[in-house]
Amino acid sequence: MAWKKIIPAKRTENIKYAIRDIVVLAKEVEKTGKEMLWLNIGDPNIYDFVTPPQVIDDTVKAMRDNQNGYAPSNGIDEAVNAIRLDAKSKGFKNIKEIFVTTGASEAIDIALTALLNAGDNFLLPAPTYPLYDAIINKLGAEPRHYFLDEENNWEPDLKDLESKIDENTKGVLIINPNNPTGTNYSKESLKGVIELAKKYGLLLFADEIYDKLLFDENDKHISMATIDTNAPIITFNGLSKSHVVPGFRIGWGIVTGKDELISDYNEGMQKFVRARLSANKPEQFAIKNALLTPQPHIREMLNKLKKRGEITYNRINAIDGLSLVKTSGAFYAFIKIDLDIDDFTFCKRLINEYGVVTVPGSGFGQKPNTKHFRVVFLPNEEILNRAYDKIEEFVKKLKEEGK
Ligand SMILES: Cc1ncc(COP(=O)(O)O)c(C=O)c1O
Repeated sequence: MAWKKIIPAKRTENIKYAIRDIVVLAKEVEKTGKEMLWLNIGDPNIYDFVTPPQVIDDTVKAMRDNQNGYAPSNGIDEAVNAIRLDAKSKGFKNIKEIFVTTGASEAIDIALTALLNAGDNFLLPAPTYPLYDAIINKLGAEPRHYFLDEENNWEPDLKDLESKIDENTKGVLIINPNNPTGTNYSKESLKGVIELAKKYGLLLFADEIYDKLLFDENDKHISMATIDTNAPIITFNGLSKSHVVPGFRIGWGIVTGKDELISDYNEGMQKFVRARLSANKPEQFAIKNALLTPQPHIREMLNKLKKRGEITYNRINAIDGLSLVKTSGAFYAFIKIDLDIDDFTFCKRLINEYGVVTVPGSGFGQKPNTKHFRVVFLPNEEILNRAYDKIEEFVKKLKEEGK
């Protein structure tokens, strides 16, 4: 008897993750000895951002104190209480549940899994963070995209959003501040989305993982859950970005809204929360200080990011054929390509010919007949300027080719 080949499930055919897929190509080019400039992945630790010592100390202390067993499924009390206090200080009121997870990613997976049946659809922004598409596809449901409006600072296009809702639509996602556009949404837009969710009975997801990363001190982030305390909302957040620990895998979900609207669904989610036992335990001991004591590293981080965002904005807009809407937060720029070349070929050639690694806009979703690429501006100014010199040279070459 011979062994039989193992066949992956059909559902794997729809799973794409452009951010990591492009790395496979870049690694091949790197092997040829070419100098590579990596502007493709949102991991601050790869660049000149370091984890604040307190976060490490609290985790190491927990490990030495033998806090290495399973945690309660929802998270250790001191972490859950700190998340609650932090949320209340932002104006959250009707908090029904908090659950600590293995990165915000796991909270997103649980929240979608407890919501969607095959055949349902869920509204995602285009462009969006691709994890949502991957999970919805895994569930046999449909990721359905509404457009963010590049002509209006990438705010949600509410008309388009409403036109995409049907009787199988279960919920709508807002990523604010946004990855990949860096937009901090206006209250008006957030209210508009809430009104539509109310009109059609939809659950709201508010991914606010970048809420602490707004460059301008006068720029305020408004949490979706503070606008309408009755609205059923799951807010996602975590330590990965603001506390420079994406490898800790610590995130959480906050359930808010009127009890009768959210309680059955919340109980469904909690079944999954309990079934997977718990999130990483020692790292949860870092949450209390991270959220409730002053965090001077955040301002330092923002000063660097603000400068790097400005360089990106100025350098890109000076290149004929590319344009960029000003970003307010996070560390991404979603750059428009006005050239006769598709975004995948643009990124592939940029890697092959210049060693600059960016991600094609199609990996995030974009309006038909528009093309973009995403840059992560975490690298230092010298690297960024070198990368933008190369991008400038590349675009000049494309123009000479008649593109
Ligand atoms: C919008 C958004 N949500 C969620 C995540 C995942 O966060 P975590 O590291 O907490 O799983 C990311 C990571 O890049 C992100 O950009």
